[in-house]
Amino acid sequence: MTQQADAQDQIARGGAGDGKYVYDRWMEAQGVPVHRGYFIEDLKTIEVAPWGERECDAAFVQLSGMEGVAEARITEIAPKASVPPMRFALDEVIYTVSGWGIATVWAEGVAKHSFEFGPRSLFLIPRGSYRQFANARGDQPLRLLHNNYLPVAMSLEPDPGFYFNNSYAHPELLQPKGDDLYAVAKRAPAMGRGATWYGNFFTDMGAWEDLVPHRARGGGGHVVDVSFPNSQMGGHMSVFPPGTYKKGHRHGPGRVIVIPAGEGYSIMWPEGGEKIVAPWHEGSMFTPPDRWFHQHFNVSVTPARYLALAPLPQFSGWSEDVEDRARNQIEYPAEELWIREKFEEELGKHGLKSLMPAEAYENLDYKWGYGEGEESGANIGARASGK
Ligand SMILES: [Fe+2]
Repeated sequence: MTQQADAQDQIARGGAGDGKYVYDRWMEAQGVPVHRGYFIEDLKTIEVAPWGERECDAAFVQLSGMEGVAEARITEIAPKASVPPMRFALDEVIYTVSGWGIATVWAEGVAKHSFEFGPRSLFLIPRGSYRQFANARGDQPLRLLHNNYLPVAMSLEPDPGFYFNNSYAHPELLQPKGDDLYAVAKRAPAMGRGATWYGNFFTDMGAWEDLVPHRARGGGGHVVDVSFPNSQMGGHMSVFPPGTYKKGHRHGPGRVIVIPAGEGYSIMWPEGGEKIVAPWHEGSMFTPPDRWFHQHFNVSVTPARYLALAPLPQFSGWSEDVEDRARNQIEYPAEELWIREKFEEELGKHGLKSLMPAEAYENLDYKWGYGEGEESGANIGARASGK
């Protein structure tokens, strides 16, 4: 076996001995920080370091529950700077942590598409296309969060060249019928819980409205599904009012959850195990590990919102099938008293009081009041993807 083949063989068998996946070895070899744990309180400020080959600063975020499932990577582009074009063989979703930028996307034989984006923008770069990013401002860095399924893919084909130096292109993905490739997303015909937005570009997830009630998860919450054309990638965003919290629930791993607006915290715990409290505000990120219960709490005077970027459907966890409801969701009357006591304590630190209706703790079938005329998004029989 040649030295190169031997190295490839070792990489391909990388998951066997020490619990690391092939992707982990590649990630750790890039020479930039890897941030671990259960949550990142502020993606805007975590340490990044120069990533020579990409000519920008970068860091990886690999939280418990993401391993082997999803990549989350920060890149930071200096004021006035741009990074060299590159091609990537997989779909990639990008969320703007901070700053303003210009993206250019193309493939052989397809004209370049350029578009501007700003804080909390969300967009998809189709698989196999070239992309180039530039900082549109001269006075501040541009910081991006990249999300893709490279960890899963590398377990099948461990050679990085397959993903970063692959000439297989999908020009058809860059030539949509009708709208411009990066036209602002539009509301799609109702699917699942009633509101789906479809497109390659979401201007500002902190300001995105037109959600529908999500009655099954409590807290007076609303939800919207995010769907990208021709891609398995997607997610949803939930918005819930001040002084309330959602029901505890659980599902599969790998969701990259970021906070576009609001202030609060989430509690995550394995059944019967220690509880992790993840405080959050705009720019925070967390991932509930596989089959861990988790619950979201708003301790501010404004609505809170979280954007959950989904893993591959194979990892969904199917948590909201009706027959599984009792095992996968904790109704308010069944929750530990500590949950609401801590909520009141945390609100007290802000001079606030709980707005949870007393009946919600007594009536298993309590129906949150929503405005007249709002369509129902309740669909507890729908497949879960971390909703
Ligand atoms: Fe969830």
